[in-house]
Amino acid sequence: MKLDKVLSFDDVLLVPKYNPVRSRSEVSLATQVGGLSLESPILGANMPSVCGHEMATALSSEGALGIIHRMCSIEKQASMVQKSEGYVGAAIGIGDDWKERAAACIDGGAHIICVDVAHGDQDRVVEVSRQFLEEFDVPLIIGNIATEDAARSFIMGLCMEDQSRVALKAGVGGGSLCSTRVKTGFGLPTLESVWRISAALEKYGSPMSLIADGGLKNSGDICKSLAAGADAVMLGSLLSGTDEAPGDVVKNGDALYKMYAGSASHGAKKKFFGKAEYIEGAERLVPYKGPVQKIVQGLHEGIRSGMTYAGASNLEEFQVKAEFVQITAAGYRESIPHGLL
Ligand code: XMP
Repeated sequence: MKLDKVLSFDDVLLVPKYNPVRSRSEVSLATQVGGLSLESPILGANMPSVCGHEMATALSSEGALGIIHRMCSIEKQASMVQKSEGYVGAAIGIGDDWKERAAACIDGGAHIICVDVAHGDQDRVVEVSRQFLEEFDVPLIIGNIATEDAARSFIMGLCMEDQSRVALKAGVGGGSLCSTRVKTGFGLPTLESVWRISAALEKYGSPMSLIADGGLKNSGDICKSLAAGADAVMLGSLLSGTDEAPGDVVKNGDALYKMYAGSASHGAKKKFFGKAEYIEGAERLVPYKGPVQKIVQGLHEGIRSGMTYAGASNLEEFQVKAEFVQITAAGYRESIPHGLL
């Protein structure tokens, strides 16, 4: 049996290139997601412990975009959308109420809708997406998927004219709280999914944009995702524990924490459904981090710096100039802080 070797963020590095860009301040982080223009490629994950109206408002003030989670009643979600200031998105599922939820969020001011399904490679997801694009004049994020075949289902299943309003979300089982791979043995490294889906979009000439979601630990992983073909990244862990993430600060001695819970975790399911029969996500306390703006600004600085290492002043140039290499275990050890012995 032939087995493909697949690579994760920590298996690769980007090769430094000649840099004609004089200052990081000349680097633009502007991008577009399903035709929606953004000043930042950062999206706040549609998770109950990450994105409510305060997170969406704060992200928007930094040029980024928050996707309001759907693990609440339609009324509550629409009211969070309404309370959000600036650009905002909202998640829907594929159950019978998807249209009602989408309509309420769009009426409340959502600029983009995200069809949120853990394993998005299903006919029902294609069908709901097709109907959405026929009935609503708003961009659509569809996820999550991992492979070229899944991307092809949407390329073939959606009207080509509508595809410029669509972004595919890549990543199955890579999230920091995901237990999908442990429970089921299925998944693909998020970086590998970005490469595969990006190749499919190019092969078929589809104008759909692409979002990397799950397992991004730092601005280096964001740079790698963008270099691999993503137009934006969705972040959970990196934005968790901040003032704007829903939930209270928990004190333990002198240390402060906030809860970060997977959408399919016991805690999140119990709160939403009143019971948690099948669990495919973990929950944990993460250190309290203060205002999310500071975190996002730090990530922006890292991405800008990364772009200058490729000699690029915008995302398009970055993707053209980026060159990946695979590294060894010794290369990885050299890549993280070391030399302390
Ligand atoms: P990070 O690594 O940024 O990942 O924390 C966020 C992404 O993880 C996904 N997600 C889950 N996946 N079970 C899963 O298998 C869960 O309970 C869960 N909750 C979130 C989701 O794609 C999110 O954007």
